Amino acid sequence: MSDLGVIGVGVMGRNLALNAVAKGVSVSVFDQSPEAVQRCLSEVSDSGLLDGHSSLEDLVKNLAKPRKILLMVKAGETVDSVLSQIVSGLDEGDVIMDGGNSYFEDTQRREKEMSGKGIHYLGVGISGGEEGARKGPSMMVGGSAEGWETVKEVLQSMAARSEDFPDEPCAERVGEGGSGHYVKMIHNGIEYADMQLISETYTLLHGLVGQGYAKMVEQFSSWNSGRLGSYLIQITAEILRMADARTSKPVLEVIHDGAGQKGTGRWMSQQAFELGVPSTLVTEAVFARVISSASTLRESGKLLTSEPKELSDEMESNVRISPEDLEKALYISKVCSYAQGFYQLQEASTVNQWNLDLSKVAKLWRAGCIIRSRFLDKIASEYEKNPSLVSLLFAPSFLEPVREGRVALRRVVKEAVGEALPVPALSAALTFLDSIVLRRLPTNMVQAQRDYFGAHGFRRTDADGTFHLSSLLS
Ligand code: 6PG
Repeated sequence: MSDLGVIGVGVMGRNLALNAVAKGVSVSVFDQSPEAVQRCLSEVSDSGLLDGHSSLEDLVKNLAKPRKILLMVKAGETVDSVLSQIVSGLDEGDVIMDGGNSYFEDTQRREKEMSGKGIHYLGVGISGGEEGARKGPSMMVGGSAEGWETVKEVLQSMAARSEDFPDEPCAERVGEGGSGHYVKMIHNGIEYADMQLISETYTLLHGLVGQGYAKMVEQFSSWNSGRLGSYLIQITAEILRMADARTSKPVLEVIHDGAGQKGTGRWMSQQAFELGVPSTLVTEAVFARVISSASTLRESGKLLTSEPKELSDEMESNVRISPEDLEKALYISKVCSYAQGFYQLQEASTVNQWNLDLSKVAKLWRAGCIIRSRFLDKIASEYEKNPSLVSLLFAPSFLEPVREGRVALRRVVKEAVGEALPVPALSAALTFLDSIVLRRLPTNMVQAQRDYFGAHGFRRTDADGTFHLSSLLS
């Protein structure tokens, strides 16, 4: 009998199964593809801790009770289909963990269905890619406290631990229902914004600071030792160093710029619209990917100018900003993006009554996941000190850098715009800051127009109540 069942041993499932085995957990695996099961088994030499099954029924029968089953199948209909096939073989108290990037509302629905049968259903957001899955991912768990107690030991044994906090595994229950998958969705949205900000910064280092590839490698490596230190900055330096074997060119020069996406960033934006919260950086990051892939539209872009911009080293003569400006711009834009992400979490927590502990969420992201960084230590400690912070922007660690960095961010955006280099995420950060600073936004005109054509009413600056243009004029 095994301690853990893993259904779906593609890249992530296989590495998670092997991770568990390495921690001494006995694991049974199933996959629709017998080759995938074989591949998984072939990676463990007779430890006696791993076995493969050719049917879901066999797998379920081979698990010790209460059963712990980790689903690592494609999010969406496949999850429902697997559930319908295994549910009759399960008993009260068994735990199903959905480790895919499922939409949190699907997780809530499934949790309700399963809890009606006495089965615990946990939505487990797992981050870290292939390497994280094998060596220690970050796991954001949502669902019943009882279900979590059943699987806690196994999941925490598999999870990442940050070097500075080795006693705090990056696997925790964050709240009820779909909260684990919601937190993972926000993680991914922040990941999108981080990636877009870094991509814009690399283009500006090249186009406005005049750095070539070798210099950019040094630049990102040195930033990685400072306050921007993070996995994404580290891999950016590594990518900039890579050369294409066929052409000997830097790999970035042969990689097509049409960016893909699987949907989790888009979900965060959609949810921001639903909640009415300003998660503008992720939204710009999603649209930046969309525009990059709109090939017909971009092909027609040449109709707008006879001299389309090409980034080239000739721009070296055109140096207008310093690497220090860019570092500050990137850093405070990152602060804006995380402030927006945590703000969305705070609102979602209130609406869904999850009672999320934002410090705990930040701690879960300190290691193992794609957005891991030293920056998250600061966020964790700020929320620990003050769980009801209005926004991270105003936390003591960030307020001064944001006030000071705004000047550099403005210079960077201004110069980029002047050179026709699109910087949607950096400008979204600047616009966000400028919008919360400006005492009167132009939306007073929007309110007047809404009332003019639709009698929607507006508030006055000097009195309570709802007014109409007609009442102001008479
Ligand atoms: C992670 C990643 C992972 C995956 C993203 C990529 O946390 O390990 O976020 O979940 O890489 O889903 O998403 P896109 O294909 O949408 O960029």
